[in-house]
Amino acid sequence: MVGKVCGTGSYVPAHVMSNDDLARIVDTNDEWIRERTGIGRRHIIDGETTSYMAGQAAKKALEQSGIDPEEIDIILLATSSSETVYPCAACEVQKMIGAKHAAGYDLNAACTGFVMAFNAAQAYISAGFCRTVLVIGAESMSNMVDWTDRGTCILFGDGAGAVILRAAEGAPVHMAAHSDGKKGVALTGLSRHRKDWEKEPEDGSVKESFIHMDGQAVFKFAVRKVPEIIEEVLEESGTGLDEIDYFVLHQANRRIIEAVARRLKTDIGKFPMNLEEYANTSAATVPILLDEMNRGGMLKKGQKIMTAGFGAGLTWAASLFEW
Ligand code: ACO
Repeated sequence: MVGKVCGTGSYVPAHVMSNDDLARIVDTNDEWIRERTGIGRRHIIDGETTSYMAGQAAKKALEQSGIDPEEIDIILLATSSSETVYPCAACEVQKMIGAKHAAGYDLNAACTGFVMAFNAAQAYISAGFCRTVLVIGAESMSNMVDWTDRGTCILFGDGAGAVILRAAEGAPVHMAAHSDGKKGVALTGLSRHRKDWEKEPEDGSVKESFIHMDGQAVFKFAVRKVPEIIEEVLEESGTGLDEIDYFVLHQANRRIIEAVARRLKTDIGKFPMNLEEYANTSAATVPILLDEMNRGGMLKKGQKIMTAGFGAGLTWAASLFEW
């Protein structure tokens, strides 16, 4: 048995922050941000929480799938920015959607979180442990960034995406996952949330900073490791590069995605992107993009999708599945 996607959903806050809006907070400009990252805007929470967004995305996925919430066996929620450590966000979602038979837990692998959770769900299903899994990526990155650090605050946005996997006969799902804790220092985040990002500290002290990143180290890591793991999965599955219909990558930066396509010598048209609109929503990028592709009619039964995530840890993972 494999987990077939039978519903997708997403939620992004209505409140939009453009690059010009950011230029009023830090010394930056639209041209620099677009050229270096491809990002034009990001959606930022305005009263929403990570669990709320996750619940909304889950409701839309459920609605599309036609599955009764009581049929869900497990809720896996990838996040590194939940407003509560416990109850975990997955249990909050369980409550919101009435999935009373489900077990739920959160999983933190930063931007790789959704792909790690998707792989875990596939492993549960193929082992016969469960039939129906709700996999969610949800983040309030605006609570995590230092809004005075122009090197990082321009990169992130908030949102959530969800998929429902249902056990079915089908082509095997192939996957890989790696971590390199020794290089973790390249991208670190404190768990304390900051709500007052618009205010200056009264005592003029150094601002608390939540995400610290060596941008160039992360860039180099991503453009090396993502093609490597895609090739690893292709080889293990005996699939040719040309057989892949879409590469659904973590939406961190347009230049990273273009570099991956170049290294794989593959048509950039097979790498859909939506980061201009949403920026990097960490664990939520892949399911938000999948939902947009699904609802936009891009995905057809039998197509081969390669998804890959990469991020803090350092962590990276990939999954090859049939739609
Ligand atoms: N606006 C204007 N100028 C800026 C900004 C900004 N927002 N940020 C930095 N600069 C300046 C720097 O101060 C520097 O100025 P200097 O030359 O006078 O010293 C100059 O621009 C170049 O800075 P670099 O840091 O070298 O710029 P780079 O080309 O590396 O781009 C970036 C920075 C966009 C962060 C890039 O390194 C990158 O995309 N890295 C990957 C980061 C990433 O995607 N992280 C998330 C992935 S993992 C996850 O999703 C959690």
